[in-house]
Amino acid sequence: MKAAWYQRKGPANEVLEVGEQPQPVAGPGELLIRVRASGINPSDWKARAGWLGRSEMPFPLVIPHQDGAGEVVAAGSPELESRIGERVWFYEAALGRPFGGAAEYVALPARQVQPLPASVTFEEGAALGVPAMTAHRCVLADGSVAGKVVLVTGGAGAVGRYAIQFAKQSGARVIATVSREEQARSAKAAGADLVLNRHNDDLAARIRDFTGKERGVDRVVEVAFGANLDLTMQVLAPRGVIATYSSDAVAEPVLPYWPLLQLDAAIRFVLVYVMDAAAHDEAAAAIGEGLRGGWLSHEIAARVPLDEIAQAHELLESGRAVGKVVTIS
Ligand SMILES: NC(=O)c1ccc[n+]([C@@H]2O[C@H](COP(=O)([O-])OP(=O)(O)OC[C@H]3O[C@@H](n4cnc5c(N)ncnc54)[C@H](OP(=O)(O)O)[C@@H]3O)[C@@H](O)[C@H]2O)c1
Repeated sequence: MKAAWYQRKGPANEVLEVGEQPQPVAGPGELLIRVRASGINPSDWKARAGWLGRSEMPFPLVIPHQDGAGEVVAAGSPELESRIGERVWFYEAALGRPFGGAAEYVALPARQVQPLPASVTFEEGAALGVPAMTAHRCVLADGSVAGKVVLVTGGAGAVGRYAIQFAKQSGARVIATVSREEQARSAKAAGADLVLNRHNDDLAARIRDFTGKERGVDRVVEVAFGANLDLTMQVLAPRGVIATYSSDAVAEPVLPYWPLLQLDAAIRFVLVYVMDAAAHDEAAAAIGEGLRGGWLSHEIAARVPLDEIAQAHELLESGRAVGKVVTIS
């Protein structure tokens, strides 16, 4: 089968290769998928690049990418044979395994392989996995947001855009921050009630106007915990929750202990790869509802042939893409 892989860590154009690899076989409890599209996540390029000094290879050869979509072509157990021919999206293909979604075929445990309705394209299905599951957990792990105000920072990001949608679907009023017009369009299309430019707008003042309160934000879905902590501390409501999934710019933020304590606030750290099985299943079920109900939308920035995977990684790393970068196989 055609596949992309790396055997050492480093820059995309130096370490990613495309060629032939043996086609995987579905083991017991697994399904074999003919992959049509694979979404690239920041964690895919970070793992390949050796981010945070993690230069050691987890396996001698890695086919990258956690997420993707395609068709089930074989089953490793008789009770799974009814799924052959199903259109599917899949998640965490490369978690603890050497061979992920950047290939024509991948074999995965059946619970990581979810039905994809005919109304959803393979590229859209490939966008779901890590971002949509992370978003679901951030929005809902600490209870209902019905009638609450949710602030989604980076609302046009892959996770942020799904977070807006889960929050809206759950009955919240949603504020999103973005940094340019294309992102504002995407966040509005996702359903945000108020979209603010994090560079140009007076965020705290605009958020106060919107909520009508000095501190009106009940939940923050936070892509840049450390960088945005000052803002959060200005708008977070008593008993508010900061659900954070990244802090790239400020790796070791200083916590304002007493102000957080005085709010009876909670900080929820979310790492999709460590979420328990129940949280994954809840997220997958909610995503399934969104797909079947037609209320979950997706933003695809670029469809790149698998042969050009290095350029696809570079595009995602550049931060220029608004929406998901997917490889097509
Ligand atoms: N913990 C987990 O389970 C988990 C899961 C998925 C992703 N992640 C991590 O989360 C981050 C985002 O992932 P993604 O797939 O959503 O990436 P993405 O699609 O590239 O989106 C990132 C978004 O964050 C915005 N952003 C950056 N700095 C910001 C700031 N200070 N304030 C507000 N927005 C800011 C970016 O917009 P600008 O143009 O404004 O910079 C961009 O829209 C990455 O670090 C990734 O590794 C973690």
